[in-house]
Amino acid sequence: MIAPIAGFSKFSKEEKIEWLANTYFHDSEAVTALLKKYWNSDEKLQKLHDEFIENTITNFYLPLGIAPNFLINDTMYAVPMAIEESSVVAAASKAAKFWLDRGGFKATVLSTEKVGQVHFMYFGATEKLQRYFESIKPELFAATKHITKNMEKRGGGITHIELRDKTDDLNGYFQLHCTFETVDSMGANFINSCLEQFAKTFESNTASFAEFSAEEKDIQIVMSILSNYVPNCLVRAEVNCPVADLTENENVDADEFAEKFVRAIQIAKTEPYRAVTHNKGIMNGIDAVVLATGNDFRAIEAGIHAYAAKDGRYTSLTDASVKDGVFRFWIEIPLSLGTVGGLTSLHPLVKLALEMLGEPNAKELMQIVAVAGLAQNFAAVRSLVTTGIQKGHMKMHLINILNQLEATEEEKAYFINYFKDKTVTHSAVVNAFSEYKSQHA
Ligand code: MEV
Repeated sequence: MIAPIAGFSKFSKEEKIEWLANTYFHDSEAVTALLKKYWNSDEKLQKLHDEFIENTITNFYLPLGIAPNFLINDTMYAVPMAIEESSVVAAASKAAKFWLDRGGFKATVLSTEKVGQVHFMYFGATEKLQRYFESIKPELFAATKHITKNMEKRGGGITHIELRDKTDDLNGYFQLHCTFETVDSMGANFINSCLEQFAKTFESNTASFAEFSAEEKDIQIVMSILSNYVPNCLVRAEVNCPVADLTENENVDADEFAEKFVRAIQIAKTEPYRAVTHNKGIMNGIDAVVLATGNDFRAIEAGIHAYAAKDGRYTSLTDASVKDGVFRFWIEIPLSLGTVGGLTSLHPLVKLALEMLGEPNAKELMQIVAVAGLAQNFAAVRSLVTTGIQKGHMKMHLINILNQLEATEEEKAYFINYFKDKTVTHSAVVNAFSEYKSQHA
């Protein structure tokens, strides 16, 4: 067994790499060379990245692509997307162009409420706790003034603090359920700082509440943390057009396409196995923009999937209808995003992405991200109910297979042309490539 390592975080970057390469690899020189190859030659830029996290050894690249032609609320956007999956950006661009010719996307922010909770245990009389909470509530606001001052200047702050009795779920469990407006910041630090102060104030003032017995004074704080479930931080995006405008070529019948499309959404609405994959396709678009704009895609993923299951069954995040000859397709999702704070003013490519989007505020970014999800889903479902997904996907993946086979640029150009009218599968490419190689040996 490998011996545990002490004080690793104190090692220099070189020492960390040396330990790693010597401990886990046969060819430590090759490993060291590979890791260093990904360092940026601009030392200042590299240091910035090193300091984002602990124990950095190198950078891990993801492509940053652009999906142009997104018309959202009558503004044209080129949308930045950080993602590794080959067909995602192409699909988004295609959907953007398709809807550009049909009036573009309409998006609206429905609400912007953020949530945080202080979870605690109390084993006394509930009415006394309720009276204590009412008596201490002004103090909760007062004690956080130093934290909320700047946020209030920007139009945000604490909006509500409520005592919730959760004892039906867990003996002795109560919480302070708190809501916040954090304007253009995602607000995690602000919310957590407020919550930790609430907890301190709430716990430390019980002694002066005369109604409590000695035991009741012993409120036990378990934890104070924001929630990534934000069902009241909602954005809606929609596209619509006459059904007759849905076709791009004479091979697809517009009515049949619309009907099949709506059926596909209905299936995702009722069948969780399909809903998960359907929503995964939506997240292809959402995560890529969230990542490119320096937001927390894990928080967004967790919140959106919880929302997809809010009625007790996991379901599609998008909806579609055909009524009076009009096709409508929409999405409604919770998105807690920031355009100030966090990585937004630190990571040079995030700054660039936000500038490219016209320095959006958080609400505008919510709209852009929701549209990216809707567009991605449109592209996926359209392929699924017409050509099937593999055609477009494998065309994009062809380059990856050729790269795995170490094809030259000339060979890649040859095979892109060769597979124009053929079905791309991994084995078809391998076979064609080896035949080509033997002929050109
Ligand atoms: C692949 O990354 C995403 C899809 O599977 C989504 C879908 O099935 O709707 C194509």
